[in-house]
Amino acid sequence: MEQRFKIETDGLARSWMRYDRKTLRDYLVQGVEDPRINIQSILTRHFLIHRLFGDKFWGLMEQELRFALVVNWLLKLLKASVSPWQLHALLDGLLQGQREADGLEIPPFLSETFASLSLPNYICDLLSWAPVETTDVPIPKYLMNTFAAIWRELLENEMPRRISVLEPGCGSANDYRFIDAYGLSRLLDYHGFDLCEKNIHNAKAMFPQACFKVGNVLEIDAPDKTFDHCFMHDLFEHLSVDAMELAISEICRVTRQGICVGFFNMHEADDHIVKTVGNYHWNKLSLVRTKALFQKHARHSSDGHAAVVDAIHIDTFLMSQFGRCDYHNKDAYTLIVRL
Ligand SMILES: C[S@@+](CC[C@H](N)C(=O)[O-])C[C@H]1O[C@@H](n2cnc3c(N)ncnc32)[C@H](O)[C@@H]1O
Repeated sequence: MEQRFKIETDGLARSWMRYDRKTLRDYLVQGVEDPRINIQSILTRHFLIHRLFGDKFWGLMEQELRFALVVNWLLKLLKASVSPWQLHALLDGLLQGQREADGLEIPPFLSETFASLSLPNYICDLLSWAPVETTDVPIPKYLMNTFAAIWRELLENEMPRRISVLEPGCGSANDYRFIDAYGLSRLLDYHGFDLCEKNIHNAKAMFPQACFKVGNVLEIDAPDKTFDHCFMHDLFEHLSVDAMELAISEICRVTRQGICVGFFNMHEADDHIVKTVGNYHWNKLSLVRTKALFQKHARHSSDGHAAVVDAIHIDTFLMSQFGRCDYHNKDAYTLIVRL
């Protein structure tokens, strides 16, 4: 590896190692980042499920996205201190097919989702779990785990071929925790790595049997075409533009079939906006340029065949599928690369 990338690697490792282990374990799996309701984490799990089973679970995937929208909508109301009786009024409104209740809008995606479920359903529970005095208590685990339970039960009896999967920048098994809880890990030959030793320590403490290693996306420790698929979230924005290109060439080199990458800071302009923060970056990446890099490196590593790169702008996707466009991050994109 070139000296400049070694220097960047040292800076990146220092940046993440300054956090304590508990912070690293918790901070990216809370609130809107919670992989049970974070749309990009859900799309990644769907990417894997689709690779395993094709279109078989399409209907359930749609329902899981709806669930995430419903819980995100409710979390916003709870943040704005909605009262327990307003939640009850919303439930009455839904049952009676109204468009608003007690001064609160009942958004169309909510009524549609409610109508698509048999009664009673998780929306009934979500709107009536709070004690009468306050809504200032977390949504109970069993409700947040609604789809974990469904997927786990459905996937339990499936016996497809296992696929090998690589996750660079896996953090403290942030997404793997849910891949496991949703019954998917059994179907994968998973390999996660992260530059930050404390993250790997956390991941191994939670999953001693799984494969987690300290590693660098700028120099992936694996021969060409080792893995069927690769997925990752929220890493490229933190690299210099040259290091990002090197990282893209590395993941294209080691992957045979498909790549799914979540970005938190991307835009449709022609240029990247480079911003350094201490030892790392917080860039706003150009969609066209990033796509072009995948096309260039995927072509090199797949014997000249052009790769197909699909970009999903999360807010637009939710609007087109569910008529909902208030995603918390307007700059979130997921790219799916077929090699
Ligand atoms: C913003 S966090 C995202 C973590 C996880 N993917 C998630 O979405 O919750 C970025 C992660 O990338 C790791 N990282 C940074 N530079 C890296 C590199 N060069 N190689 C591998 N991992 C790296 C960090 O240690 C950190 O865990």
